[in-house]
Amino acid sequence: MKPSNHNTEKVDATTRNLEKHRREIDRIDEKLLELMNRRLAIAKEIGKIKEHHKAAVIDTTRESHVIQRLFSLNQDGLLTQKALFQIFTAIIAASRGIQQVPFQTPSAKLLPSIFAVIGNPVSHSLSPMMHTSAFEVVGYNGLYLPLEVDDIGLAVSGLKALKFKGASITIPHKVSVMDFLDETDDMARKIKAVNTIVNRNGRLVGYNTDCSGAIRALSAKTTIKDKDVTVIGAGGAARAIGFGVKSEGGRLTIVNRSKENGEKLARDLDAAFIPLAEVHQLSCDILINTTSVGMTPHIDDIPLSKELLDNHMVVMDIVYNPLNTRLLSEAGKIGCTTVDGASMFIYQGAEQFELWTNIKAPVAIMKLAVLAALDERDKTGG
Ligand SMILES: NC(=O)c1ccc[n+]([C@@H]2O[C@H](COP(=O)([O-])OP(=O)(O)OC[C@H]3O[C@@H](n4cnc5c(N)ncnc54)[C@H](OP(=O)(O)O)[C@@H]3O)[C@@H](O)[C@H]2O)c1
Repeated sequence: MKPSNHNTEKVDATTRNLEKHRREIDRIDEKLLELMNRRLAIAKEIGKIKEHHKAAVIDTTRESHVIQRLFSLNQDGLLTQKALFQIFTAIIAASRGIQQVPFQTPSAKLLPSIFAVIGNPVSHSLSPMMHTSAFEVVGYNGLYLPLEVDDIGLAVSGLKALKFKGASITIPHKVSVMDFLDETDDMARKIKAVNTIVNRNGRLVGYNTDCSGAIRALSAKTTIKDKDVTVIGAGGAARAIGFGVKSEGGRLTIVNRSKENGEKLARDLDAAFIPLAEVHQLSCDILINTTSVGMTPHIDDIPLSKELLDNHMVVMDIVYNPLNTRLLSEAGKIGCTTVDGASMFIYQGAEQFELWTNIKAPVAIMKLAVLAALDERDKTGG
């Protein structure tokens, strides 16, 4: 059947409209390209000034301020914070590239050092975005992959054979992975869990950075020594954090749903134990939730009654999805100091980065990467 004149005109109008939009996009792209080249030209000038004054080329504090300012300008934009973050870390990396000779040797530049997060599931892990941004911003030729793994023993052999430089280990492999490593750091051995592998000249060494990450996040807001600290939960994270609290000189109480798991952890850490169902009042300075209660999609859940909170407490939640959990929101309302789960996550990642690369971690950039990824998750419900 022949198209009617009316239909042909409609198709022509649509095509013209589409082409008009495409020409507009082409003009915008040209403008963006011109602006980016102008930006790089200025970065080159800055590079000369830095060289003259023997100042450091990489200034991740300044770079994180640049991105943070753009985040606040972009509140109502169509561009997601995650896309904005990725575009600007790439521009910053290009600027840095123009300012300095990369610190890695030419051969290291040719082949990237490979890293992975190994767990199951890992599709929602924020580690790839956090570490990839950190590599990019400091000019490290690293590649970081999410790997969903069932057989941890085979996976560890694979890491070795493929000369991975390191890996993050997550649920459910943090304990079982220890059987397959060449060596385990003292602290990880005491905690009985590994969340980080470092390949040291072909030997795979296990570390635990969950413990130090949590302590660093908490220490940014309060001291731990001689404080009464209650940890809710008795799983892997509770074990790492409880160990850290004891090492810092805190008085530890474990509160847990199952008596058996709670008593075992309390015994191992030489701590007190109270079953969750028997907590009718709380007398602690620091309260830390290490259970998954309150995590998306159950965002209205809270690990214990809000009536038990007191405004002198520092309240930390290691759940970071959502960032402002019901527990933190209730604690914030009555004036408690709060510590969110993203800070522990970022600090444990920063320590992994330093173990792998021997370069000071760009913590502020890593934080923005995690916040941008969480923002996108919030908006897309992912
Ligand atoms: N922010 C970070 O960097 C970071 C790092 C590690 C983990 N995490 C998060 O921390 C959470 C725990 O991780 P994990 O490795 O310790 O897990 P895990 O080993 O499975 O331990 C889970 C703990 O939560 C308790 N629990 C689970 N559901 C509960 C409920 N409905 N009511 C009361 N208690 C409940 C369990 O009690 P029972 O003993 O009674 O089963 C157990 O003590 C996860 O959400 C994980 O994503 C965050």
